Amino acid sequence: MSDPSLSALGRTVDPRRIGANTAPAQHGPAGHGAPTVFDIRGVNVYYGAYKAVKDVNFTVAKNEITALIGPSGCGKSTLLRSLNRMNDLIPGARVEGTVSYHGKDVYAAGVDPVEVRRRIGMVFQKANPFPKSIFDNVAYGPRIHGVPRAEREAIVEDSLKKAALWDEVKDKLKQSALALSGGQQQRLCIARTIALAPEVVLMDEPCSALDPIATARIEELMVDLAKQFTIVIVTHNMQQAARVSDKTAFFSTEVNEQSDTRTGVLVEFDDTQRIFTTPSDERTENYVTGRFG
Ligand SMILES: Nc1ncnc2c1ncn2[C@@H]1O[C@H](COP(=O)(O)OP(=O)(O)O)[C@@H](O)[C@H]1O
Ligand SMILES: [Mg+2]
Repeated sequence: MSDPSLSALGRTVDPRRIGANTAPAQHGPAGHGAPTVFDIRGVNVYYGAYKAVKDVNFTVAKNEITALIGPSGCGKSTLLRSLNRMNDLIPGARVEGTVSYHGKDVYAAGVDPVEVRRRIGMVFQKANPFPKSIFDNVAYGPRIHGVPRAEREAIVEDSLKKAALWDEVKDKLKQSALALSGGQQQRLCIARTIALAPEVVLMDEPCSALDPIATARIEELMVDLAKQFTIVIVTHNMQQAARVSDKTAFFSTEVNEQSDTRTGVLVEFDDTQRIFTTPSDERTENYVTGRFG
C-alpha cells in the first residue's frame, strides 16, 4: 500500500498504484503488535426496517486471517459486505455505526466507494469469471482503471503467480476462463481481485462449491496470501476456520419477541485457538462442539 490512510479515497484511482502492491510481509506472532486495519464499532445493518445484525464490535489486524463463523442467516455475509460498502449496491440496505479503516470511516462523506472496493477486494462463494479469456479476466480491473497494456501483462503474470494458478494456465492465457475447473476458476477470481493491488481481500465462503482437494489448495493459498494481504473470510466450515484463521468471530441469532424476526449478534471474538478450545461463552462452546447448528 502506498497510502494506508484513507486520505486518498475520495480521489480518482491513480493507475500507477495498481499492480504496485509492494507491501512487505509484516507477519509475526499473530495479534502481537500487528497494526489494526479495521475497527468495527457498534455496527448495525438493516434491510429496510429489518435489522439483520446488531451492535457488532471487533478489530481486524493486518496480515492476519479473520474468520466469521456461525449458523446460516446470522449475518456473516451482511457484515462482510459492510466492510467494503458492497451493501450500498443492495436497495434498502443501511449501515449504522462505524467501520473504521486505518482510522477513517469508510461511510464518511466524500469517500469514494469504488476506491474503497479496490482497496478492499472481494471473492464470492461461487467463482464468477467473466466469459472472456484467462488473461482478460485478470487484466479487466487494471484496464478499466487505465493501466496501459504493457503494464497489464506484468500484472496478469504477477497476480496469477500470487494466486498459485500461473503454472497451470501460462500456456493458455488466451483460452476461455470458463473452461477451467471450479477450483481454478476460484483461484482466477482471486487473481482478478489481487490484480487491483488491494490491501484487504474479503472472501465469502470461497470453498463451499469446491471438492476437498480444490478446497485444500485454496486454504493453502489463503495462508500464503496473508503474508501480503489482510484476509477476512466467511466460512460455515469450522474446520476450515480452525485450520487457516488467526482470529475468529462467532455470530449467532437472537429472536425478537415482538416482530418474530431474528437478528445476528457477535457472540465472541478471540484468537482462533481460544475460540475452539476454551471459548468464554456457552453458545460458542455449543456451536464449536457441534451441539447446535
Ligand atoms: N438483500 C437482502 N434483503 C433482505 N434481507 C436480506 C438480504 N440479504 C440477507 N438478508 C437477511 O439478513 C439476514 C442475514 O443474512 P446473511 O448475511 O446472508 O447471513 P449469513 O451469511 O450468516 O448466512 C438473513 O435473515 C437474511 O435473510
Ligand atoms: Mg452468507
